[in-house]
Amino acid sequence: MTDRHPMTDYIPGFGNHVSTEAVPGALPIGRNSPQRPAFGLYAEQLSGTAFTAPRHENRRSWLYRMRPTAEHPPYRRYEGAALFAPGTDDAPLAPNRLRWDPTPLPTAPTDFVDGLVTMMANRDPAELEGVALHVYAANRDMTARVFMDADGELLFIPEHGRIALYTELGRIEVAPGQIALVPRGVRFRVRLPDGKARGYLAENHGALFRLPDLGPIGANGLANPRDFETPVAWFEDSDEPTEVIQKFMGSLWTTTLDHSPLDVVAWHGNLAPWRYDLSRFNTINTVSFDHPDPSIFTVLTSPSDVPGRANADFVIFPPRWMVAEDTFRPPWFHRNVMSEAMGLITGAYDAKAEGFQPGGISLHNMMAGHGPDLASWQGASAADLKPHKIDGTMAFMLESCWPYAPTTHALGHAQLDYDAVWKDFPKARLPADPSA
Ligand code: FE2
Repeated sequence: MTDRHPMTDYIPGFGNHVSTEAVPGALPIGRNSPQRPAFGLYAEQLSGTAFTAPRHENRRSWLYRMRPTAEHPPYRRYEGAALFAPGTDDAPLAPNRLRWDPTPLPTAPTDFVDGLVTMMANRDPAELEGVALHVYAANRDMTARVFMDADGELLFIPEHGRIALYTELGRIEVAPGQIALVPRGVRFRVRLPDGKARGYLAENHGALFRLPDLGPIGANGLANPRDFETPVAWFEDSDEPTEVIQKFMGSLWTTTLDHSPLDVVAWHGNLAPWRYDLSRFNTINTVSFDHPDPSIFTVLTSPSDVPGRANADFVIFPPRWMVAEDTFRPPWFHRNVMSEAMGLITGAYDAKAEGFQPGGISLHNMMAGHGPDLASWQGASAADLKPHKIDGTMAFMLESCWPYAPTTHALGHAQLDYDAVWKDFPKARLPADPSA
């Protein structure tokens, strides 16, 4: 195995046109596909958008590798990962609010792929729209195999333990409080520097995640582009058999190569993995009154074809000062045309007193009435409105215009009493004679 760069080499910036080579001279200069690339490498384009996508949306990279990806035996169905990407349930989708406790860490040896549990999904990968929310819980490194997702890009949201992503385009280490993205089609291996790991995995079938427009906020704020980090080129030169598991059109498939496909010696382009530290999010909020819409907390957005209506928004609820005057400060009661899946990375979420734990999930689909639970409402209604810092917390929301369908497994493991958090609110007291 050839290890030419430490794990700490990253290139700053979001969506930049990057050029990087692990061996000097591997990257062609001035053309993408020379007649004879250096060292006998194979030039291969990896497209993240259609060739003809508008320039500002066009994403692709050129890879220079030791063997072409085209050289592989047929794929056959993969029999492991029983809870990952199950078939869809045809039962009508109930409008109920749902919540889940954290997925337990495995006791039997389980790697990242076999430790994936699909919790909910909307649309279908073949429609090129929608998102799925999975949980991973693993206690073994992936060895002698790699994974790739032809159905969408993957957003990693670690909650417990670090993960190290060994991808075709470089290596990324991600800790809880950071996120990482691996583009559609990029093969990778997951190792667990802490021996075990758990987290969330958002799978985006639709338009690529990008930074949201800032409107009147101006040129700076929220997630700033310079804080995204793309790895430098790295490769392994291995002729050991390597299994490739891929997700394609909602099912898992496997084949075995006689070499490692993590053999990209150099690459250039603007389709690449990255990581981002959520503590660098420049949080913006009211300094007068009222709780703004949570869109102020958008880190990434995947637009749909309808302006302003996201296929998926990745939104965080980070540490922040609460200073609003004469205001109910937690999230208000609401019914949303968008559907909201939430997770908790650390700490407590300010609209729920208990029951929503790190590693847990809640789901409030289109038009489901929700908001603070009784204890949170009582506390915030009576609070002395001094400046107050919400600290030591990080929740996230994966908001989508498409309602989520929980998997059969998720439905069988939901909390039984979630509706009770909104029980026993006191009735409003009108004057004895309303006309008086
Ligand atoms: Fe909500």
